[in-house]
Amino acid sequence: MLFHEKDLIISELLIDWYRKNKRELPWRDTTDPYVIWISEIILQQTRVAQGIDYFHRFIERFPNVGSLAAAAEDEVLKYWQGLGYYSRARNLHQAAKTIVSDYQGIFPSDYAAIRTLKGIGDYTAAAITSFAWNQPYPVVDGNVFRVLSRLFALDTPIDTTKGKKQFTGLAHQILNPLRANLHNQAIMELGALQCVPKNPDCMSCPLQAQCLAFASQTVASFPVKQGKTKVRNRYFNYLFLRYGDKTWLRRRGDKDIWEGLYEFPLIETEQALPADALLIHPDFQTFTGNPEQLSVSVALTGVKHVLSHQIIYASFYQIDLSEMPQLPDTYQQIDMNELEKYPVSRLIHIYLEKLDLDLLE
Ligand code: ADE
Ligand code: SF4
Repeated sequence: MLFHEKDLIISELLIDWYRKNKRELPWRDTTDPYVIWISEIILQQTRVAQGIDYFHRFIERFPNVGSLAAAAEDEVLKYWQGLGYYSRARNLHQAAKTIVSDYQGIFPSDYAAIRTLKGIGDYTAAAITSFAWNQPYPVVDGNVFRVLSRLFALDTPIDTTKGKKQFTGLAHQILNPLRANLHNQAIMELGALQCVPKNPDCMSCPLQAQCLAFASQTVASFPVKQGKTKVRNRYFNYLFLRYGDKTWLRRRGDKDIWEGLYEFPLIETEQALPADALLIHPDFQTFTGNPEQLSVSVALTGVKHVLSHQIIYASFYQIDLSEMPQLPDTYQQIDMNELEKYPVSRLIHIYLEKLDLDLLE
């Protein structure tokens, strides 16, 4: 095979730098594709510092494909709690089941086979095949986009199909196919530690002499993004119903955020709903019935919860009932002290934490 000389120099400089500067991270001590896979999916969701705890807890409870596949979905979601974007956890679970059913529980080593597993895209497939088996696939994640856009002063927006193609091409071009493992770790680490988004310290960068953005003093203008997906505002009014030691939850359905997670009876509105308007909302009657006595207190209001394409404005009302309400079938009655067993969104979790504090007072 022939390589461009300049391109191999980049890889060599990267790997030398990586050997001296890399962080010791738990998923770097392994070539177990399962462990690598879990770490990569967690790291798509959170920063390394927070990810380490999740990683250890997850691997301790689900040490291999078989244990993950055999678990109940609720428990898998519970271990994901707080990371957000729960479809990632559901996909992990689904993919583990596929590996058990279609590959005798042994993680496939073929890129194309891995790529067909739920939740595994090009990035994750490249990370797994290169870190576990040193196969020559370049990783292209946010860090790599940034490094490449600067190295080559390439101004194609990274969030476009054309950009993804071009940057993937460059990533292939500079990859030393015999050292894909180290090369990939190195370029991501360079993006994380050295070629950071704001004010990178180019004077101490091992790639300074190869970097076109540095040469043209345009580092700050890379990477270019087309940007701006529209953000949708939603208003969630949650009813924490209490009758004796009972409360009610439902499991959220598909085609919306938080699929499979549990929540209190919810009244979603187009606009913010003041407390007095809540009391006469038709769904309010549905949830609470028409009891003689009803005590409503605003427990938490104006909570702003920002997701990638939506902003949820949430209020929580605590409602003490004097009669057993009849809720729609989708809601289930549970003991209050079992609340914490159910996987919930970060938003509900914030409320439950506050509730615990209030009860301690
Ligand atoms: N971010 C994504 N993957 C990573 C890895 N393997 N190590 C450190 N940071 C990462
Ligand atoms: Fe990034 Fe600066 Fe290094 Fe170029 S010289 S790769 S911009 S840190």
